Parts: sequence; C-alpha cells; structure tokens
Amino acid sequence: MVKGDNINDIIDHKLFSEDDIHEMCVRLGAQLTKDYAGKRPLVVGALKGAIYFLTDLTRQMDVAHQLDFLDVSSYGDGFESTGKIKVVTDLAADVKDRDVLIIEDIVDTGLTLKFMKDLIKKRGAKSVKCCAMLNKEARRNVDVDVDYFGSKVGNEFVVGYGLDFLNMYRNLPYVGVLKPEVIQKYMNK
Ligand code: PRP
Repeated sequence: MVKGDNINDIIDHKLFSEDDIHEMCVRLGAQLTKDYAGKRPLVVGALKGAIYFLTDLTRQMDVAHQLDFLDVSSYGDGFESTGKIKVVTDLAADVKDRDVLIIEDIVDTGLTLKFMKDLIKKRGAKSVKCCAMLNKEARRNVDVDVDYFGSKVGNEFVVGYGLDFLNMYRNLPYVGVLKPEVIQKYMNK
C-alpha cells in the first residue's frame, strides 16, 4: 500500500475530536433554532467539504428548512486558492425572498464565502448568513462575515470531517493536522 493511503497514518495530531464536533453542532444548532424560528430557511451546503458538518448540524436544528447545494471552486487540486472562483454546480432552488443559510466546513481567505454570499444576494435573497465549522481568521483577505462558527483555527493544514487534502481524507471522523511529510511528498511531485 502506498504510504498515505491509510488515513490514520497521515495525521500528526488531533485538533477536534468527535465529541468536540458534536458539542459545536449542539451549541450552533440551538442558536440557529432560536434565530431562524418561523423563517423556514433555505440551508445551502457548500460542496463538497460541508456535507459532514451539515448533516450533523441540521439534525440539531429544530427548524423546518429546505436543503440545497452549491459547488463553487477556487482551489482545484492545488494547495492555494487561485482567487478565480467558478460555479461548478449551481443551486436548484430560487433564492428570491428566502432566508439563506450557507453551511461551510471552513472559511479561510474568505473568497469562496464572499463569492457565494454576493451571488445569492444578487439573486434577491432576503438574508444570507453563513455557519462554518471552522474559522481560519488569520488567513482572511476579504471582508466577509462568518455569522456563526464552531471554533477558530490557526494556520495549520487541517483535514477530516469534510476537510480534504487533494480531495482525500474527508472521511476522518475528527479534524486533525496533516503530517508535514505528507504535504511535502505531494508538493515535490
Ligand atoms: C474549501 C472549503 C471552503 C473554501 C475556503 O473548499 O470547503 O469552501 O475552500 O477557502 P477560502 O476561504 O480561501 O475561499 P474547496 O474549494 O477546496 O472545495 P471542497 O469543499 O470541495 O473541498
């Protein structure tokens, strides 16, 4: 087996355990239940990273809502945002006059979130907010509000619970920091 194919081999240390993530979902779910009471929001999952967080978070929300997905991409298979964002798969729903809640796994530079918020606002949504599992605030280079988030995170390369490295390792049930040698191995290719 190629080293790096076994997901438990690639983690340097755990950052957020399954329990930590469950607590985030319970806390955020309670807050969203309060803030969206009676609003029937359209919950938009930002593909692909958000799906793990979305399924756990929404099951903690006691609010009738509808679900849709949006896939916009700026990273491709690279490590750094290209800054050029494109819609890969568009929403199915009409967002006009809707209260839209975007779910993200992580907000890094903020470019992806700003693009999504601007797009949804331009289409006439009544409100557009975001709930992210992690907020990498130190890397922000555009002005965008992360309205709700589970935790701040430093400038480390995190994977698991939706977060990927080369579209791999999303299925780790926790969030961990990738071993530097794994990154090195692929960067040298
Ligand atoms: C990741 C993540 C966010 C975005 C954050 O998505 O899920 O959407 O990057 O980065 P930014 O704040 O610098 O824009 P990515 O485009 O890698 O797609 P993925 O969800 O399929 O992993």
